[in-house]
Formats: sequence, structure tokens, C-alpha cells
Amino acid sequence: MSTAQRISLSRYLIEQQREHGHISAELRLLIEVVARACKHIAVSVNKGALGEVLGTAGSANIQGEVQKKLDVIANEVLIEANEWGGHLAGMASEEMDTIHVVPNRYPQGEYMLLFDPLDGSSNIDINVSIGTIFSVLRKVGHARGVSEADFLQPGKAQAAAGYCVYGPQTTLVLTVGDGVSVFTLDRELGSWILTAENVQIPPATQEFAINMSNMRHWDEPTRRYIHDCLAGADGPRGKDFNMRWVASMVADVHRILTRGGVFLYPWDTRDPTRPGKLRLMYEANPMGFIVEQAGGLASTGTQRILDIVPTELHQRVPVVLGSRDEVEAVMRYHDQAQ
Ligand code: AHG
Ligand code: MN
Ligand code: MN
Ligand code: MN
Repeated sequence: MSTAQRISLSRYLIEQQREHGHISAELRLLIEVVARACKHIAVSVNKGALGEVLGTAGSANIQGEVQKKLDVIANEVLIEANEWGGHLAGMASEEMDTIHVVPNRYPQGEYMLLFDPLDGSSNIDINVSIGTIFSVLRKVGHARGVSEADFLQPGKAQAAAGYCVYGPQTTLVLTVGDGVSVFTLDRELGSWILTAENVQIPPATQEFAINMSNMRHWDEPTRRYIHDCLAGADGPRGKDFNMRWVASMVADVHRILTRGGVFLYPWDTRDPTRPGKLRLMYEANPMGFIVEQAGGLASTGTQRILDIVPTELHQRVPVVLGSRDEVEAVMRYHDQAQ
């Protein structure tokens, strides 16, 4: 791509605002700030042992997960970058017990930002792709202040969603409800360059992503579905399947966006108090929005993820997303079980 043909994230967003009317000036600023924070996180990730960013922080988050240093650093970077710009009312994060209201000394905006600051924490220390996932909601009503209840909106209300992959390349994937665009970080220039537009997930696939070690804990439909995939061309599915599992949702979803596939983190019996591992507000909703915008589907197995009305901030859900035909196949296995 020649330098003259390059479209930066800033130009892309200005055109989305000016020519297509998809986003407001506030939302444009918000996305720019999040993208800048992701660059900052990428620098810390790249430093690794040299930046003393590896290992655990010695604390736990509200979900009982041991926090890694980078979980905490990425959370702080996102908060500090976003709280003073005047575009936000508040933020919520996988790593914070409750919402972070924009302090009174700064102006309050109408948007709310939710994030998984560091996705794939178990891969940080082993130098495998990790990422940041974010979701943007608009505050309903104009009263000053913001409460946890304002955040409990279904995923279909998202104004924007995206994720960044810190991998061999640093990549930002974004939707503002008008398809999915991909930006690649030019490290020398420090700018995000548009490298793919209107990304479409192939509807058919022969590749699934699931943590197979949990098989004995899965629900019955998931077990039957994977059993039939493993039976290959001679089985009921009539085709051979390949398997991939990075254990960073960002990397697994990015592969699916690039070449198709189906990702499953089903309900399982390990912990009866939680209906799945992944978080609705920080993982399932933003990824569900992106996948749907790219022509794929995102379901719990029985319900569209973006239709779920949340009852709590840190709610968890079973997740099945990716290539349309394959997600529909998984849903058929759930239908038959009822
Ligand atoms: P996080 O690092 O934000 O807590 O998320 C980890 C998630 C997700 O990225 C990944 O798909 C899944 O957990 C991996 O879980 P297992 O270790 O159970 O395979
Ligand atoms: Mn975590
Ligand atoms: Mn995560
Ligand atoms: Mn995380």
C-alpha cells in the first residue's frame, strides 16, 4: 500500500461522521482516545520482561481471577486516557468491582465505555497474542450522573464496539454499526491505517474453537455437536473438521473474522453459579456486534446474544459465534434437546 493511498483512523472516523452521519463528534473522539490507549498498552505489551510488566499483581478481580500486572496496567491506561475528554459519563471493566463515574472536575458526556482491558491474560507471560475488547453504550435520558443501571442495556443498543490484538501485528477492529473495518498500527508513524473494510465472515466452515479439556463438564447439545464434528466426513456432519484454541478470545475471533470458523465457550457444570465463563458486557456483546456486522451470528445456543437484557454488570453467558451456517448448526443441536 503506497503512503498516498493510506487512510488513517482519524480520516476514516471524520468521514464516518461527515459523509455517512454514522457517528457524532463525541463518539469519534471516544474511539480516537480508546485507539490511543490501545497504542499505549501495545507499548507495554511489547516491552515484556524489559518493562517489568509480566507476572501477577497479587490481587484478584470480582470474578475471583488472579490479576496479572498487565490486567491492572491496561485498566489504568484506559481509565486515565478516557476520563478527562468530556465524551464519557462512566466506564465499566472486567477488572473493576463497580462502575467508574467520571469525576466531577471533568465535564460529563453521554457515552459509557465498557472494556476487557486485557483479554487472554493466561497468554501474557508466554508471549502469545492478547488484546483489548471494548463496547460503547449511549446513556438513555439526560439526567446528570450515571449509575450501574444505566449500563444494563442489551448488546443491540451498542453505538460502537471493537477490539485490538497485540500479536505479530497490532490490529484494531472496529464497528460503528456500518460493517467492520480493520486498522493496522504503523509503528514508525504511530498511526492506525485502514487495511480492510466491510469484512465478511465466510458462512460455511470446517474449523471449530473450543477448550476440549472441559468436555466432561459441557451441556449435552455441545457434547453431541462436537462429537459429530469429530466423526468427520463419515459422520452425520459429512465433513472433516479442524480445531484451533488460542485461549485469547481476541485471537480466536480475529481468526474467525479472517477465514471463518465457529467459537464456543458453552455453559458447563464446573461452577453451578455461573452460566458460562465469558462476560456478557465486556466480551460477548462487543464480539457479538462485530461478528453480526461481518455477516456471522452470535448466540448462547438458544438465544441471540445481542437481545439479552443484562441484570448485572459482570453477568456471564454461554457463547457460540462465528460462521453463520455453523452457528445455526449448533443452535439446531440445542433445539433438538428441548
Ligand atoms: P480474560 O483473560 O479477559 O479473563 O479472558 C480469558 C477468556 C478468553 O479470552 C478465552 O477465550 C478464555 O477465557 C480461555 O479460557 P480457558 O483458559 O478456560 O480455555
Ligand atoms: Mn480475566
Ligand atoms: Mn477476556
Ligand atoms: Mn481480561
